[in-house]
Amino acid sequence: MTTFSGAIGVFDSGVGGLSVLHHIRRTLPDERLIYVADSAHVPYGDKSPHYIEQRSIALTRFLISQGADAIVIACNTATAAAAASLRRQFDLPIIGMEPAVKPAVAASHSGVVGVLATTGTLESARFAALLERYAGAVKIVTQGCPGLVEQVELGELHGEKTRDLIARYTAPLLDRGADTLILGCTHYSFLAPLIREVVGEDIVLVDTGAAVARHLQRRLQSELPARITGDASLQFWTSGDAAQATRIMSLLSGEDLSVRPLPHAFASN
Ligand code: DGL
Repeated sequence: MTTFSGAIGVFDSGVGGLSVLHHIRRTLPDERLIYVADSAHVPYGDKSPHYIEQRSIALTRFLISQGADAIVIACNTATAAAAASLRRQFDLPIIGMEPAVKPAVAASHSGVVGVLATTGTLESARFAALLERYAGAVKIVTQGCPGLVEQVELGELHGEKTRDLIARYTAPLLDRGADTLILGCTHYSFLAPLIREVVGEDIVLVDTGAAVARHLQRRLQSELPARITGDASLQFWTSGDAAQATRIMSLLSGEDLSVRPLPHAFASN
């Protein structure tokens, strides 16, 4: 059997995917991990599916050039726009993520589940199919959240502006009877403490990061069983300003990171 040592490549439009990387590190502590923040192109939420697909292809090529043998799309919006295309073009495990409708439906007692996500995710065919499959008798109410991703990109996790946006976006969902809210964008995980403060203790918040890490682990075991790990390390890259990314990503992850600028060929479409 062929044996080889690879890395796991993880990408997002920006810093949101760090919330998924956190769970991957806990679940797979021996892995070499390469993270790309596509900060020059954030937010993805208001870009066309074609644009996001082109960015996702460029970032996947870069990650493969760095030794990735599995890719995690740590972004709901990019999964909706590009996962199918990446799977057609690249012959390696590609793990996407989508709003956790199934567990949220199971958790709801009121029979109403709210979804906070980007417009791109909510308008995608993939999201429609997800509801078709898992909503059942539960009513799903959705809310796009323009501006929230930008607040996380600035590291503004607690300020008044962020709180006001959260209050404005969660109120219509709670008014319609939602007792469970899906955090359908990886950036929003960093806002979970503030969302909790705004909506109160009785509302269930559903995040996807831990489930994605477990799914990745299963896929590696079943599709790359001969893989060698043990050289645990972390690399960070950005298509945007490296000094700014270093500052914000260190703040969000609570450790001193060093973020490198993505080579020019991969930094724009
Ligand atoms: N963090 C991403 C997501 O999960 C994308 C947010 C954005 O860039 O709009 O959807």
